Amino acid sequence: MPRMTIPMLNEKRAAGEPIVMVTAYDYPGARAAERAGVDMVLVGDSGAQVVLGYSSTVAVTTDEMLVLAKAVRRGTESAFVVCDVPFGSTEVSDAQAVETAVRFVKEAGADAVKLEGGNQDRLSRIRAIVSAGVPVVAHVGLTPQTATALGGLRAQGRTVESAVRLVEEALGVQEAGAFCVVVEAVPAEVTEVLREALRIPIIGIGAGSADGQVLVLHDLLGITEGRPAKFVKRYAAIGEDTVAAITAYADEVRGGAFPTAEHQYAAAPEAVEAAAQRIASRER
Ligand code: KIV
Repeated sequence: MPRMTIPMLNEKRAAGEPIVMVTAYDYPGARAAERAGVDMVLVGDSGAQVVLGYSSTVAVTTDEMLVLAKAVRRGTESAFVVCDVPFGSTEVSDAQAVETAVRFVKEAGADAVKLEGGNQDRLSRIRAIVSAGVPVVAHVGLTPQTATALGGLRAQGRTVESAVRLVEEALGVQEAGAFCVVVEAVPAEVTEVLREALRIPIIGIGAGSADGQVLVLHDLLGITEGRPAKFVKRYAAIGEDTVAAITAYADEVRGGAFPTAEHQYAAAPEAVEAAAQRIASRER
C-alpha cells in the first residue's frame, strides 16, 4: 500500500471517509497498527505514562520521545507517522520549536509533528515550524501538557468562555498552517460547530463524531490500569491476559511443568558422553 499523504487525508475528509489514527510507542505496536490498516500513527507523549511510567506527560524528554519515534517509524510502511513534541521542547522560542521539529523529521523520519495548544505563542511556533517545511498537527481542547493551567484533566468547551476560546484556537491553528487538528474532550455539539468552520481534518478524542478518531493504543487494548477516561472504549483485555499468561508461566516453572521435551534441543548421545567424560577427567 502507498504511504498515506496529506492530500490523501484531505480527500478522505472531503469524501466523508473517517480517518483512523492510533498511538504507538514501539516496533510491535507500530506493526500491529500497520497490519490493521490505520491511516495515521501518533507517537503520543501519552507514552510518557503508558510505556515509561511517568505520572504525567510533562516529564518526558525529546531524546526519550525520539527513541519511541524511531521504533515506530521502523514498524510502519503506509501509515502517516505523527510525533508529539514534548513539553519544554518548543516553549522557549520559535527557533527552539523548529530545532525540535526538525530533529523528529531527520532523526526519526516523522511525517509531521503535533503541538498542543492554540494561544498566540503556540500559533507563532506552528507558523515557524510550517515555514521550516515540517507539517504540523495541532491539538486543542484538553491539552494534557498544560492541564494544570486548565484546572486539571477536564473536558473543555462546556461553558460560553471555554467554547469561544476553543473556536478561536481551532481557527487560529488552521490559519497558522496546521494541516490537521486533534480536538480532545469537547462536547460533540461544539465539535460539530468546529467541523462547519474548519477546512482541515479534525481528529477527535472524546469529542464526538469528527473527520477521524484517535485512541491511545494501551487504552483500547485494555493494558492501562485503573479507570479509563470517559471517552475510552476498550476493545480487548490484554492487560489481564498478560498477567494471566505470566502467572501460568511462573506456576509451570515453579511446578516443573515447563520446559518439556518439545521445548528442548536434542544432542547426539556421543556429545553427552563426551561432556560427562570431560567433567569426570577434570574431577580426577
Ligand atoms: O499523547 C497522546 O496520545 C495524544 C492523544 C491522546 C491525542 O495526544
